[in-house]
Amino acid sequence: MTTAAPIRGIGIGLRHALAARLFECQVPQIRWLEVHPENYVGRGGRFRHVLEQARERWPLVTHGLSMGFGAVEPAEPGYVESLKGFLHEHKVPWHSEHLCFSGSDGVFLHDLLPLPCTEQAIAVAVRRVRETRERLELPVAVENISYYAHPAPPEMDEGEFLVRVLEEADARLLLDVNNVFVNSVNHGFDPRAYIARLPAERVVQIHVAGHTVQPEGLIIDTHGEAVREDVYALLEFALEHVGDVPVLLERDQNFPPFEELLAEVERLDAIYRRATGATWL
Ligand SMILES: [Fe+2]
Repeated sequence: MTTAAPIRGIGIGLRHALAARLFECQVPQIRWLEVHPENYVGRGGRFRHVLEQARERWPLVTHGLSMGFGAVEPAEPGYVESLKGFLHEHKVPWHSEHLCFSGSDGVFLHDLLPLPCTEQAIAVAVRRVRETRERLELPVAVENISYYAHPAPPEMDEGEFLVRVLEEADARLLLDVNNVFVNSVNHGFDPRAYIARLPAERVVQIHVAGHTVQPEGLIIDTHGEAVREDVYALLEFALEHVGDVPVLLERDQNFPPFEELLAEVERLDAIYRRATGATWL
C-alpha cells in the first residue's frame, strides 16, 4: 500500500464543528488532517460526506479513542476488522492509540485511564501494540497521556515506562507535548529531560493542545483552550530533538472564532520551520 501524500508540517483535527470553515479556508500552512475513526467507521450520510470532502484536499492520519494499548482484554475483532478496512481505504501511513486503558470486564468507561508504571503493565501494552500492528497490517504509534494520579505504586517513572514499551514493542511514538507539560507540573518532573531521553527515531507525530490552570496550581488537559506559551516553547525544544516530524493542533471543544485557530496554526508553522529547518516547505 502506498500513502496518499506525506503527512508533513502542521495539521489540524477534523471536527464537525470546524468542518465548514475548514473547507472554505485557503491556508497553506494546514497540510494534513487527523480524524478519529470511531466517528466514521460503519457510518454513512453526512459523516461520510465530510470525510470525502476532507480527502479531496488533504492527506489523512487516524487517531483512535477506543483501543487503549493498556487494555487487559483484546479489542473487539469485528471493530478491528472494520477499522483495518477504513485505514487501508484512506491510505493512512500509521494509526495511533493511547497508552492507557478505557474499560474493564467488558464495560467501556469513555475515559483515558492511566496504567500503573509496572513490569506487568509493560508486558500487557507490548502484547497489545504487537497484536494491533499485526491485525491492522500498518505501523502503529503509541501516545503518552495526561493523568492525575498513579493507579498503583510505580516501579519506575513515566518516562522509563514509555521508553520500555516503545523499545520492547518496536513501536512508534505520537508525542503529546501538552501532556508532557501537564504531567511535569502536576507530578513534578523536568519536561525537557523527559523529552530528551525519548528515542527520536521512533517519533512519527506530535500533538499540541491547550490546558487550564486551576487556582491551586493543578493543570487540567482540556483540549478546549488556546495553546499556552510554555507548550509552544516545549514544542520547539521537542522538534529540535526529533527533527522534521508533523505537528497536530488538537482542539476538541470550546471552539473559538476560526481565525484564532488559524493564528495558532501559523504560529506552529513558524516554530516548525525555525526548529527543523525543513527544506521541503
Ligand atoms: Fe494528544
